[in-house]
Amino acid sequence: MTGATSGSVVMLTEVMPGSTESETAATLEPCNELRLVPAGDIVAIVKREGRAVHFDSCPEGNTPEERRPAVAIPLTVGGKVTGILTLAGRPEGARFTEDETIFLTTLGTSLGLALENARLFRQLQAKATKLERLIEVGKMISSSLNIDQVLESALMSLRDVLGAQWCALRLLDKDTGKLVLKASLGMSSKLQASISRVRPDGTLLGKVLQTGKPIVVEDLTTANGSELHLPYYTKEMRAVAVVPIEVGGKILGTLKVYSPVPRRWSKEEIAYMATIASKTGLALENARLYSSLQEYYLSAVQALAAALEAKDVYTRGHSMRVAKLARACARVLGLGVEEQEQVYLAGLLHDLGKIGVSEDILLKRGTLTAEERKEIQGHPEVGARILEPARFPAEVIAAVRHHHEDYRGGGYPAGLVGEDIPLLARIIRVADAYDAMTSARPYREALTAQRAREELRRCAGEQFDPRVVDAFLRIPQEELEDITTGGGEGVL
Ligand SMILES: [Fe+2]
Repeated sequence: MTGATSGSVVMLTEVMPGSTESETAATLEPCNELRLVPAGDIVAIVKREGRAVHFDSCPEGNTPEERRPAVAIPLTVGGKVTGILTLAGRPEGARFTEDETIFLTTLGTSLGLALENARLFRQLQAKATKLERLIEVGKMISSSLNIDQVLESALMSLRDVLGAQWCALRLLDKDTGKLVLKASLGMSSKLQASISRVRPDGTLLGKVLQTGKPIVVEDLTTANGSELHLPYYTKEMRAVAVVPIEVGGKILGTLKVYSPVPRRWSKEEIAYMATIASKTGLALENARLYSSLQEYYLSAVQALAAALEAKDVYTRGHSMRVAKLARACARVLGLGVEEQEQVYLAGLLHDLGKIGVSEDILLKRGTLTAEERKEIQGHPEVGARILEPARFPAEVIAAVRHHHEDYRGGGYPAGLVGEDIPLLARIIRVADAYDAMTSARPYREALTAQRAREELRRCAGEQFDPRVVDAFLRIPQEELEDITTGGGEGVL
């Protein structure tokens, strides 16, 4: 309508109080070499005065056409300049008339509104994405007892949602008063090592611990250094935000994000961080309670196992030895660390159910009656039931329940066959038999290690899983001797 051939739309965003960043949102094609973006001083006048400004886009030209008279029009929303529309390239280098300027200024108001609407819509969409991410992370955090996983997903959500370059989660060590780095994202291992334990006194973190309130620094280089004790990484990271991790009025640690450029953190962003921090705090507390409950139960169960061993001097230390032998066997079999720990626990507890069998039967020297045999054969099931309420890993409970199953079938309590018997139970079966054979009983001498090994080999495929026997026989001789001679301390 005005005959202009080149132009641009520049959007103005306030990044920091008093400082504006401009971003070219569009240019009028096809005049790339004449690309028209107003200079900083023109932007400043239009922004400050909120009016159209005429200028020459090529002031060094001789003719009006070469000088290309241009006009910069404010795009306004509610009286505030949010962007600038600039036009030039009229036929014969004509200036924009008063009427055209008024028309363009009116257009600028409509365009300003339309662009503002689009911006708000984009913001709304971003908020919806943040909210979705928050719900997703919240669910993950509150349903997991795996602390490493919880911490990692909390930090990842901060990085994704806040676009943070570095994130760090620290927990307070009550004994030393130091903040210990528990999880981080984006940091080099050197940096992680240098901040792995910090004394919070006089730092930003210390202030957060003291006040329980978030602290935001938009630009570290202009912040009040004497009060804040500026960190040494100020050159690399310019802005930080820290929130406390708090549960029930107790501060457990801090959550911190960093930005490499000066940055204003919005209230919503800080609220997002605080929500993640509080969910993380709850998950940490849950995991702590759960593990102390499990520890408590385990020590109660170990006391029971010890009481059981006290009934029969000949079995003293048996559970501990079986646990160690089974763990060594699992390692040789190539099982993971978690399974090795599970089979160790199962070894400690495998005969727990004997606590319910009377001493007369346990210590009886002669042949057992059918009734007595039935009672003693109930011990794996009884043991498993004692463990169930403590929510031990299912693998541990299954190993206790099935440690008297025979590989070829016909064992108890379920008469399972071959691979249907849980692997950890098959391992306990071999470790249990080896220790029983190499220990003295009132009615027989202990077998030598050599004889016991032969027995295992002879019964592989019968009572024992051949693959497990094979692994067991590959446990280094020295380790085997250490366990069988040094395992007599009992389970207490
Ligand atoms: Fe047993």
